[in-house]
Amino acid sequence: MLEQIAPNGLLRHLITLDGLERALVEQLLARSRYYLAGADARAPRDASLHGFTVANLFFEASTRTRASFELAAKRLDAEVLNLDVNTSSRIKGESILDTIYTLEAMHIDIFVVRDASTGVPDMIAESVAPHVCVLNAGESNTSHPTQGLLDLLTIQLHKGDISGLRVAIIGDIRHSRVARSAARALELFEVGELRFVGPQEFLPDAEEFPQAARVHEIDAGLDGVDVVMALRIQKERFDEDSEIPDGEEYFRRFGLTGQRLKHARPDAIVMHPGPMNRGTEIDSDVADSAQSVIREQVTNGVAVRMAVLAQVAEYIRAWRSAQS
Ligand code: CP
Repeated sequence: MLEQIAPNGLLRHLITLDGLERALVEQLLARSRYYLAGADARAPRDASLHGFTVANLFFEASTRTRASFELAAKRLDAEVLNLDVNTSSRIKGESILDTIYTLEAMHIDIFVVRDASTGVPDMIAESVAPHVCVLNAGESNTSHPTQGLLDLLTIQLHKGDISGLRVAIIGDIRHSRVARSAARALELFEVGELRFVGPQEFLPDAEEFPQAARVHEIDAGLDGVDVVMALRIQKERFDEDSEIPDGEEYFRRFGLTGQRLKHARPDAIVMHPGPMNRGTEIDSDVADSAQSVIREQVTNGVAVRMAVLAQVAEYIRAWRSAQS
């Protein structure tokens, strides 16, 4: 298994939250809070990435993650390369690794990678030069570590200590890297109760998250929770022979409406990683309500990505210093 932590103890790659020490995650969250104070500023908050080049390689669609990694890197004074994969030589048959080696020859320091296949960020991290870092920006249905961090940060900012909280994740959890990373982050912070709510075919196998309660009826799933996270149906990850549920029928059974939200605590927050399908997994009235923190999640995402970039830059600086 890939070592995300370098022998000198510094974070080099961020591929998954699995196996990370809680102390390191707390350090990343503290750093994120520091950058959050300047998240609205146009000017870089500091020059932690001055002299570094970040390449964003998104082999799968993205709005939030891609834009926030780019802004985060620029606000730390990095040079940023956004490879347009649709006009890159990958469509002429070049492999991902040859693309990586080509860009590495242009002195990229940090690769930010999203891919539809499990294992791609890991494979790239195993293959790059020793001074290069890789950050997972979303990997199939497996892992989305910076999303897990921004979700944890958002919950902490509203609710404080995670350990007393009841959290319901509703919808297509089986196909969701967001749910997996959020669940891992919440477990690391000893969440009081984690509920997976959805039809049986949308829930992961019980052995993957043995501590999560599994509820197939939304009102019961929402009962008394502090945090509600709604997820879209990830049609692009269904097997060819699987039936995709009808949106209207799904909304009737599992859509998050204002009426249903009344089963949660009155001060419950509503989260969604985006992109939202209003009228399928969430009603517009709820998405735009005072309980919704969906746009705050986006703001927090920039700060989290600044924190992660600044953290791995420390590894690169230490490596450069050891060479000189
Ligand atoms: N939450 C998330 O990963 O959104 P994007 O697909 O827009 O990056």
